[in-house]
Amino acid sequence: MGQKKIAVLTAGGDCPGLNAAIASIVRGAALYNADVIGFTGGFTGLIMNDVKTLKPADVEGIERLGGTILGSSREKPFKQDGALDKPAMIERTWREHAPDMLLCIGGNGSMRTASRLAEIGIPVIGIPKTIDNDVWGTDQAIGFDTALTVAVESIDRIITTAKSHKRIMVVEMMGHKTGWLALHSGVASMADCVLIPELPFNPAVVAGHLSQIVSSKGYALVIVAEGIRTDPQWSGDAGESVARMIESFTGIQTRSSSLGYIQRGGSPSPRDRIIASRMALHAVRLAMSGQSGVMVTGTGDQTGEIPLAQTAGKLRAVDGDREMLRLARDIGISFGES
Ligand code: F6P
Repeated sequence: MGQKKIAVLTAGGDCPGLNAAIASIVRGAALYNADVIGFTGGFTGLIMNDVKTLKPADVEGIERLGGTILGSSREKPFKQDGALDKPAMIERTWREHAPDMLLCIGGNGSMRTASRLAEIGIPVIGIPKTIDNDVWGTDQAIGFDTALTVAVESIDRIITTAKSHKRIMVVEMMGHKTGWLALHSGVASMADCVLIPELPFNPAVVAGHLSQIVSSKGYALVIVAEGIRTDPQWSGDAGESVARMIESFTGIQTRSSSLGYIQRGGSPSPRDRIIASRMALHAVRLAMSGQSGVMVTGTGDQTGEIPLAQTAGKLRAVDGDREMLRLARDIGISFGES
């Protein structure tokens, strides 16, 4: 049997832990004496034939760095947007380098693309990453733990100024169409109100709850997921719009803060590094045994895999986590439901 070659790419929005995954792939491949190459800029590198060799020396010490040494993009090669035949370009690049497997580290959109790649005959394994934690079929995704840690640290700071000024503070979280970051950071910081896309809220209920909270403790904390549906009457992004709405209903001074890309940057938490290593090594083992067309999954300390076709196009939403929602309600968090 000849020496095997693994290709890796990081696609979609970046997050902390991608470099730890790349480093683990290179170290894991070395155990099998396999070569590793990386396509740069997400699927763009695969289309444009932009490749780097990755030797153990190239990944030395990168596990602690945020971002991705390979770069990333939101390129969707199967979406026709011009004259280029991107799938054909991908097949050309693939033939030229002839790897045995592509490890695609990405979120929902990237798993969909990976599934399409499998359909055109490219052996591919997905590794889930996203601060949104919304990849269907896995409880864990690389990046969520760090984003949550950063969010809770930031809320701890914001809350002190809410107290001093007796204000309502609205903090907007990323999360795309789901409320995982908002819910988990809301529970961790015992927020008074959490608004998420999965649970439609009633502004009057939110305002009534917050007025009561402010009259008892003097200030209040509201966590808002960026993806909530807001009334077009309240201008601005989700957090700003909710702050305007609350102030107008309650007459209490309300400020908003959007954490934005701070949640996606910086060094990965120890937990994200471990999740990244565990998933990456599982992917390498699968690759070496010739298994493809799957996405690695993580629950607790268990790592497994599911068919890519099963996760593609689906969303892991908060309403499936009844236990966490119940915990939130039991500690006094309102979701503003009618
Ligand atoms: O998927 C991660 C994420 O950070 C979402 O939370 C957010 O909605 C989106 O990416 C932002 O995307 P972009 O990096 O393209 O601005």
